[in-house]
Amino acid sequence: MCGIVGYIGKRPAQDFLLEGLKRLEYRGYDSAGIALLDNGKIKTVKALGKVAELQLKMERSTSSAMAGIAHTRWATHGKPSEKNAHPHIDCKGDVAVVHNGIIENYRELKEALGKRGHAFRSETDTEVIAHLLEEEMSAQGRSASGGKIREVDFEKAFVAMLKQLKGAYGIVAMATKNPEIMLAARLSSPLVLGIGQEEMFIASDASALVGDVKRIVYLDDNEIAVIGKEGYVVKTLSSRKREKEELPLEWNKTVAEHSGYAHFMLKEIFEQPKSFADALRGRLIPGEGKARLGGLRTVEKRLRSINRIVIVSCGTSYHSALVGEYMLEEYAGIKAEVEMASEFRYRKPLLDKKTAVIAISQSGETADTLAAIREAKEKGALVLGIVNVVGSTIARETDAGVYCHAGPEISVASTKAFTSQLAILALLSLYLGRQRGLTLVMGKRIAKELLQIPKYMERVLTQAKAIKKLAKKYAKQAHYLYLGRKYNYPNALEGALKIKEIAYVPAQGYPTGEMKHGPIALIDASVVSVMIMPKDSVYEKNVSGMEEILARGGKILAIATDGDAMLAKKADVIFIPKTLEMLTPLLAVIPLQLFAYYVAVERGYDIDKPRNLAKSVTVE
Ligand code: G6P
Repeated sequence: MCGIVGYIGKRPAQDFLLEGLKRLEYRGYDSAGIALLDNGKIKTVKALGKVAELQLKMERSTSSAMAGIAHTRWATHGKPSEKNAHPHIDCKGDVAVVHNGIIENYRELKEALGKRGHAFRSETDTEVIAHLLEEEMSAQGRSASGGKIREVDFEKAFVAMLKQLKGAYGIVAMATKNPEIMLAARLSSPLVLGIGQEEMFIASDASALVGDVKRIVYLDDNEIAVIGKEGYVVKTLSSRKREKEELPLEWNKTVAEHSGYAHFMLKEIFEQPKSFADALRGRLIPGEGKARLGGLRTVEKRLRSINRIVIVSCGTSYHSALVGEYMLEEYAGIKAEVEMASEFRYRKPLLDKKTAVIAISQSGETADTLAAIREAKEKGALVLGIVNVVGSTIARETDAGVYCHAGPEISVASTKAFTSQLAILALLSLYLGRQRGLTLVMGKRIAKELLQIPKYMERVLTQAKAIKKLAKKYAKQAHYLYLGRKYNYPNALEGALKIKEIAYVPAQGYPTGEMKHGPIALIDASVVSVMIMPKDSVYEKNVSGMEEILARGGKILAIATDGDAMLAKKADVIFIPKTLEMLTPLLAVIPLQLFAYYVAVERGYDIDKPRNLAKSVTVE
């Protein structure tokens, strides 16, 4: 998704801007651009494709400008092209803007601006922002008092421009007439300020600031920031000053490096034993069979009266929620439902004070998930978050929550965030379960087994080479089916999603029991069914499903429990250690992630930047 970086300070801006854009590359984009403000002039450089292309162009004419804004674009209005790439400028080249989000009323605005003589260079919605700013600034310049031309107030013009916009935005603007400041505004699209020594930074994602700043400030909706070399001021749209909390930026630079792995995705798959352990750290009381969740302390009483949980999320986070649904019902004894956030927001959800709505989100910025929790709050539900990115919008807007502590996830295809979310859902089931009917004995068993998972994950990861071989064998398949039941049905969906996302192969995830109601018609010798079938309460059912597929000439790649000799005779098998049924998805998902990864390698795709996808979807 689009990325924004900006800099104003004491050194050439282009160095940070290019570096910042590179740090945002993982979000997915199709073009990039930069605008530098120097000696009363704005200079823009744009390139289709990678930031490296932009860098090449910049190297031909390095600039010592100490203020600039830059952007990676992910096309929404108008195809990927240089002219549609941001920053956009006004007719005279006096203002430049970058924008994330969507301006819903841009057609009307564009038409009206056109009638008033503005010439548009791009097909984007963003360009209207530049022309509106131009208009507001010249309106001020013209309103002469006593024949004297008034000084243009960039900030006033900026606010007047914002008031005309409908939709979602994170905007950063600069103007030749006020070179000492930059202005930023946020509505439903994240922006974060980075505080330096005689320099200020701004970005749409804190990861762009890692290594350059130690303190950050998140903007909230309907706030504007005035930033200059010496610092910043945050205000409301009615010019009231807002005191903002400055937070430490804790990530170190190595998280944004491959550390010897060919891709971030592979690195993050291998990080799972550690990220899972980090999610549990300090949160289990094994001797009492309990979980201690500090983030829920303030709502502990209210949680005791909850009788229904609705989980809202998207993509991979939706799949972890589906596993959570089984966990919560089985061990916490609470009715749980899962809704795709994009659907939930347009229903008339029936929520009351006894319902807790939980948003699960890696980024904490997904527009649909955010809209869903706002709706839930409106309806009086208790709103909780299971979020990875500390300080993100969802984390801030929920009543309480539990962080995943997976560390930054860079790969667009989500892996370690999934297993960390499952860690939190297991902890939550234990926490709520022990408030209700879950026995001490069962609580202790779950706690003990959770602590074994990192070691088991390591064992699964030692099979990477064998999985690579299987991926080679099956890489040319035109279609995959992923099948599982109960706790591993969501894993079937997740396995299919992974291979679609990075290897671009059509794949479908189904509950094994649903096969005979349609999908079995697809089976012939050309179809591989990836079956997740550990020795659990639905093992025999899965075996019957497998026999039906084998009888029709289908091929099976099975994820099975260590020592399952019967399966080894009938199918290609990847083994996982035996664990509690509720925790099997944590182990079974790893071979699915690795299989998708190696199939994509075989097919020669750009794994960390899959086509058409974005890491954080901040538009609807
Ligand atoms: C995008 C990403 C997915 C992710 C989904 C939800 O589609 O490409 O990997 O699962 O958004 O994101 P969230 O940050 O809310 O978990």
